[in-house]
Parts: sequence; structure tokens; C-alpha cells
Amino acid sequence: MTQAQLAQGASPLLAVRDVSVVFGGIVALNGVSFDMHKGQILGLIGPNGAGKTTLFNCLSRLYQPSSGDILMDGVSILSRPPHRIAEIGIGRTFQNVALFPNLSVMDNVRVGAHAKTSSDIISDSLRLAWVRRSETSINRKVQEILAYLGLEDVAHTVVSGLPFGTQKRVELARALAADPKILLLDEPAGGLNHEEVYVLGDLIRKIRSERHMTVLLVEHHMGLVMSIADHVVALNFGKKLAEGTPAQVQADPDVIKAYLGSKDQ
Ligand SMILES: Nc1ncnc2c1ncn2[C@@H]1O[C@H](COP(=O)(O)OP(=O)(O)OP(=O)(O)O)[C@@H](O)[C@H]1O
Ligand SMILES: [Mg+2]
Repeated sequence: MTQAQLAQGASPLLAVRDVSVVFGGIVALNGVSFDMHKGQILGLIGPNGAGKTTLFNCLSRLYQPSSGDILMDGVSILSRPPHRIAEIGIGRTFQNVALFPNLSVMDNVRVGAHAKTSSDIISDSLRLAWVRRSETSINRKVQEILAYLGLEDVAHTVVSGLPFGTQKRVELARALAADPKILLLDEPAGGLNHEEVYVLGDLIRKIRSERHMTVLLVEHHMGLVMSIADHVVALNFGKKLAEGTPAQVQADPDVIKAYLGSKDQ
């Protein structure tokens, strides 16, 4: 969707409305609002401590905003617990990889695929036909995702023995396995070398177009954000500082000032 089409008022897939989060005396987010449209790659930037991960944690329901609302397709998600967020199509990766270190790559990805299925303990124990069918479709799904991300060769390797860059890819695989509509990526380029960042950028774009996802990308790597995001929101000290196209945000005097005053750049 072009920026012009967006300006014509298509209703947002995700709407963050005046969200504030207070921890004790610390205001981690202060009245933040923005929209995410279907098919967009939205970059969320800001110096350390700006509130980016806090916002992610609100979207994935690990944190409850002190005020404000978050709407998906016009419906508030704030009454949903974190384990019921995959069902409505929100998937995420973590800033610090959060995999099961002693499980294989395949089993970690399988956990992601299970997050989406609605099987329960009674159906599982009765081994109902539809549960068996869903196991088969989960296996198929896991194989497909592993192939898509080039992880087949390490499918049976225990995650803790893999390089950090590969572990990040496994996290991405786990998030994709739940077929999210919205993919939340918290610093996917952290710890990657120049070549790997470039490959990751292409991969995120490919995921967006081939798997029809909307991506919220938190990143310190400005080169990556500015080359793949359609729209950028900049935070500083919990407040929205600027938003617009990558070029607009990069040229914004407040954004330049915030970054000059931080150690990020
Ligand atoms: N669980 C928590 N309890 C108390 N304070 C918190 C908690 N989580 C975050 N904060 C505080 O909220 C502010 C925003 O933190 P947050 O982790 O969201 O920043 P960030 O933009 O993700 O930073 P970084 O780029 O370093 O990852 C910081 O002052 C942080 O110390
Ligand atoms: Mg963070």
C-alpha cells in the first residue's frame, strides 16, 4: 500500500492509542499513539531506554499499559492474556533470544506452531481425529518453515550449541510458525555482522511480501531500518518524538538531537 493510499484513510490493522506505562516512579511510555497498516514494515527507533521494548511487551501482553488502548482491527487486545495473543495473529521475537536452549531447533519451532492450534487436554488425551490431523499439519508447517529459513541442516541440533545469528533465525522461525498477521521483531540485527544484517533485511522484506505479514521492527541498526521500513516512529524518554517516512524521520531535528545525545550512533 502506498503512503497516498494510507493517507486516504484505510483503517489501521493495529492502533496504539495514547499508551502510557509507569513502573514505580519511572514513566517508560508517555501517551504514545501511532497506527500500523496492513503490509507495512514499521520501524520503531529510539535511544536506549526510550521505551521500545516496553511497547513491544504491551503489544504481546506481557505488560499492561497504565492508560490508553491497543486495538487490532478495531478491537482492544488489552483484556487478552499473553498466551492468547498468537490466536489473534500477533507473533514476536525477543531482544535477548528466548528459546528453549536444551531442545532441538525443530522442537523450538514446533512450540511456535502449537501456539496457534486450539487443541486442549481432553481432546489431546482422547487422541481425537482432528487432533491427529492437526499434529500432521503442524509437522508439515514446521518442515516448511525450516526450509523457508534455511534451517533444515540444523533441524535436529540442540539450540544452545548454535551461533547467536542462527539462534535468532530459529526465533524468527518459531514466530513464523504461528502464522502471525503482525510480526514483532525486537532488535533482530543485534549481534549480527554487516553481511548478516544485509541478508536479514532482504529476508524481512521477503517475509512481508510472500507471507503477507505486517512487521513492527525495533532496531538500533539505522542502516537496516532506513533501508526496509515504509514508515518510522521515533521514541525518546517514552514519548513519540517524530514519525514519517525514513527520510523525514532521519532529517527531523529532534531525532538528530536525541541521537547525538546518546551513545547509540
Ligand atoms: N519491568 C520493568 N521494571 C521497571 N522499569 C522498567 C521495566 N522495563 C523497562 N523499564 C524501564 O523503562 C524504560 C524503557 O525501557 P525499554 O526497555 O522499553 O527501552 P528500550 O527502548 O527497549 O531500550 P533498549 O534500546 O536499551 O533496548 C527504561 O527506563 C527502563 O529502565
Ligand atoms: Mg529494548
